[in-house]
Amino acid sequence: MKYISKLLDEEFLQAEFPDIKVETHVSLPSTQDNLKLKLDKLNQPVLCLAEQQTAGRGRGLNRKWASPFATNIYLSTLYFSPKKLQELEGLSLVLGLSIVKTIKALGIEAKIKWPNDVFCHDKKIAGVLSEAFNNKEKGAKVIIGIGLNVNMDQNQEIDQVWTSLKNESGQYFDRNLIVVNLMKNLMLYFKKFEKDGIAPFLKDWQEHDYLYDKTVSFEAGNQPITGQVKGIDEKGRLLLLLDNHQTISISAGEATLRK
Ligand code: BTN
Repeated sequence: MKYISKLLDEEFLQAEFPDIKVETHVSLPSTQDNLKLKLDKLNQPVLCLAEQQTAGRGRGLNRKWASPFATNIYLSTLYFSPKKLQELEGLSLVLGLSIVKTIKALGIEAKIKWPNDVFCHDKKIAGVLSEAFNNKEKGAKVIIGIGLNVNMDQNQEIDQVWTSLKNESGQYFDRNLIVVNLMKNLMLYFKKFEKDGIAPFLKDWQEHDYLYDKTVSFEAGNQPITGQVKGIDEKGRLLLLLDNHQTISISAGEATLRK
């Protein structure tokens, strides 16, 4: 039997987050672009959710994010940080860890693949698209976009190995309750990162590091860089041990697993 999913409940979510303006939409091209387009006019935190996205964006050029109706969580939230843009390096890893925490609280194993993809049993379940902008007043405006596969059990359009909370547990989930926990963890982790940086999260990272000791490669011109992952440094950069025993740190890019 196909479930008729409970819809997003704006009133319930607004009551949970009185200091944030909550908006739920039936359909948007992208929750991320919705906030981005009106960024200059926004002067309070916003939580924007959609039942469906018709042009959901993934990280990286021309990457799409599959966003079927009333099935998963498509969330973008605008956060005002007192920190300057350059002080936010490493933030997106911490945001990924907050998703891991939310999933694990449901009794489902989850790991983080650098920089911020969330994996369950070798399959991607969630991704983060974090975009930070200079705030004329002070600090930065950060739009955190999260896609989390919740009740999706089939989708032919996704070109990578994926899973969902339902696939992992056999259970149907009310997305409203997950949004509440996700937002609470997200804010908690963001505030801790603003105060103390990435250092307090290094143990958490080690415990959930999907790539640790695995051999990966990165695109770099026409010669890919290949090495063994050795965790992250204090800025959240990936440490890669090369064949020549040199360790380098990588600050951006997509790690491809080598068999
Ligand atoms: C990734 O490629 O891993 C990042 C995926 C981010 C998807 C989310 S869904 C809500 C928000 N709106 C978008 O268009 N993208 C992000």
